[in-house]
Amino acid sequence: MPHSQMTITHFIIEQQRRFGGSGNLSMLLNDVVTACKMISNQVNHGALVGALGSLDSENVQGETQKKLDVLSNEYFIDHTQYGGHLMAMASEEMDDIYPIPEEFPKGHYLLTFDPLDGSSNIDVNVSVGTIFSILRAPTGKIGVTKEDFLQPGTEQVCAGYALYGPSTMLVLTTGQGVFGFTLDQNVGEFLLTHPSMRIPEETSEFAINMSRSRFWEPPVRRYVEECVAGKEGPRASDFNMRWIASMVAEVHRILTRGGVFMYPIDDKIRDSGGKLRLLYEANPMSFIVEQAGGMSITGRERIMEMKPRSLHQRVPVILGSRTEVQRIADYHTES
Ligand code: AHG
Ligand code: MN
Ligand code: MN
Repeated sequence: MPHSQMTITHFIIEQQRRFGGSGNLSMLLNDVVTACKMISNQVNHGALVGALGSLDSENVQGETQKKLDVLSNEYFIDHTQYGGHLMAMASEEMDDIYPIPEEFPKGHYLLTFDPLDGSSNIDVNVSVGTIFSILRAPTGKIGVTKEDFLQPGTEQVCAGYALYGPSTMLVLTTGQGVFGFTLDQNVGEFLLTHPSMRIPEETSEFAINMSRSRFWEPPVRRYVEECVAGKEGPRASDFNMRWIASMVAEVHRILTRGGVFMYPIDDKIRDSGGKLRLLYEANPMSFIVEQAGGMSITGRERIMEMKPRSLHQRVPVILGSRTEVQRIADYHTES
């Protein structure tokens, strides 16, 4: 079958036949895909369906919730809880874990997600996304607790994101490379359009929120200053900069044409550990980036090897093209 006609369901079943694994994961992924299609539909309709704007509420991290943050969270719960594949889920938008309610059968997996990433971009009609990660639930144990979610990223069974951009895409990995699918709105299916995505090793593009530069640590400052110095500087080459403020969109750009994305630790956010959340953002994106040949670190360590300490833990993130991320790691070691 030509790649352009292979549905995501077909692809997942093929992968399962080739590499093994339970049919439950395929079915769980199908539910995740449905949730992403529902969110995509709301995002696309925007103001037409009253989906824009903020609520009066804040999430556990003290961020004002957008209507679509909450709605997307509900879609994820509604479409994944009844299938019998999950034990519990955890989301950026929920204070605590969400164990599968009594009335539904329980399964072998845990799901973590950022229902809407880049939500400051919703009202200005710029790309947003959804990020998710699937972990194994503990076996031979009654009940599920927060601690069951505190597994290092290396334990992830699957990770992916949906990007609600000019077209809606879903990008995923189960540890056998990274594959991208585009939603055909007429057919209502994600079709394989980007087989085996690889991050170019060399790059001349970086992404960082420059407004925070006065708070940066020396290694990050050094890296960015050298990029900005361009041809006349120590890198002897011109660099370009982007900042979309949607991690999903930045990672997708990096998967497509290379680059580096940084949300490093800085003096302003030192107490909270960073900006991005380990379980909902950093780990799933690190899995995808590494599977595409890239590298993902905090500056000083590999993100996927961190042992999470709490559900909503934040971490510094530096990811993208291997040679550049390695250079930034070296700058950290040298300082
Ligand atoms: P979220 O919308 O889920 O809270 O995540 C936003 C994140 C990430 O997507 C983006 O890279 C970053 O926050 C943007 O931060 P700034 O507003 O500081 O640029
Ligand atoms: Mn986010
Ligand atoms: Mn979010």
